[in-house]
Amino acid sequence: MANDFHPSASPDHFWMPFTANRQFKASPRLLESAEGLYYTASDGRKILDGTAGLWCCNAGHGRREISEAVSRQIAKMDFAPTFQMGHPLPFELAEKLSTISPEGLDRVFFTNSGSESVDTALKVALAYQRAIGQGTRTRLIGRELAYHGVGFGGISVGGMPNNRRAFGALLPGVDHLPHTLDLQRNAFSKGLPQYGVEKADELERLVTLHGAENIAAVIVEPMSGSAGVILPPLGYLQRLREITARHGILLIFDEVITGFGRVGEPFAAQRWGVTPDILTCAKGLTNGAIPMGAVFVADKLFEAFMTGPESAIEFFHGYTYSGHPVACAAALATQEIYQRENLFQKAIELESYWQDALFSLKDLPNVTDIRTVGLVAGVQFAMHADGVGKRGYEVFRECFENGLMVRASGDTIALSPALIIEKPQIDTMIAQFADGIRQAG
Ligand SMILES: Cc1ncc(COP(=O)(O)O)c(C=O)c1O
Repeated sequence: MANDFHPSASPDHFWMPFTANRQFKASPRLLESAEGLYYTASDGRKILDGTAGLWCCNAGHGRREISEAVSRQIAKMDFAPTFQMGHPLPFELAEKLSTISPEGLDRVFFTNSGSESVDTALKVALAYQRAIGQGTRTRLIGRELAYHGVGFGGISVGGMPNNRRAFGALLPGVDHLPHTLDLQRNAFSKGLPQYGVEKADELERLVTLHGAENIAAVIVEPMSGSAGVILPPLGYLQRLREITARHGILLIFDEVITGFGRVGEPFAAQRWGVTPDILTCAKGLTNGAIPMGAVFVADKLFEAFMTGPESAIEFFHGYTYSGHPVACAAALATQEIYQRENLFQKAIELESYWQDALFSLKDLPNVTDIRTVGLVAGVQFAMHADGVGKRGYEVFRECFENGLMVRASGDTIALSPALIIEKPQIDTMIAQFADGIRQAG
């Protein structure tokens, strides 16, 4: 059996996202089923999932509690609107999520994806500033190399050049802080990198340039995932929090990847002891089983909207599927698993074993940096003579041939296994990865 398209499924019509379509369709990698830490490919091979799908299946694949909750809910009530109507599940879910969210971030707006969560967060920030009489605060500040999804808001504050350059002028009034990747000073750091806290001070420069009274919010990923696992330097997030608070600027953490236990604790905000005003999530919210995102908003912000006449809609924003009953059922079942299996502790318990395992790759060909935290790792490789991304792709391809799925971002390979992983499976993953690195050369 070859890993190829089934005769009933022509490769021609599906325009694949973030994919080299022609290359993929000439030499496809197709997955058929999933259970625990493994996919089964269409050629019958077991593939160890080194990336929890796409950073989302934190409780592993095939969780019956989730599929049963989804089946029950879809049979009971497939859909119900949440515009001037309601049903119990999003209320129940929001309450449950407020028990794990950072202190004071107790109000929850539901979306269907990380991109929608980001655009929602930016709109909350702008509308909040206006609601409190600070309507001149319209500027948004993102960061170089950030990934905030693919909506126009998200790519405007995002900082991955290829995701922006084909799409015109984007949102006006956006600036970017410098990224914090610094191989010269921080390569092979164990734990958070020591150097780079001063990069947060660039925010002071932007405040001086534009005036704090014109800046609504700063958005960052506490740890950049998609750009290749870039960790916050020691003290950096604290410094950003201190500067934003001093100038009345809102701080948004995009935790679409770091949420739900990836770096230990439910959210990175708790792991690193910094509380933003708004926090976005998606992915792990439903264990990836049904699309869903959420935005946590500080009580203070929410209360600022709840003024004016009671008959007036306070925030003209929402999605047909905000609080979709089937997604809520999936999320509730997922959160129960996380709690019952203590999965938010797992990344902390395994952190040093994981780090040691990754650092055993240090002397393999072309490895220029290894970055780990919780149950995430980024292994960066020297650029191939044929250009950026070539070596990353080759390692990714060889790993897949060896039965391991990793994620390539440029020349960095990211690993983010499901939080149910145990030490022997980490060993297997690292051995397969090492072979892939050697074979890619
Ligand atoms: C930090 C961050 N924000 C937003 C997104 C976008 O999420 P989605 O693909 O669900 O729209 C992602 C996706 O990887 C992400 O990593």
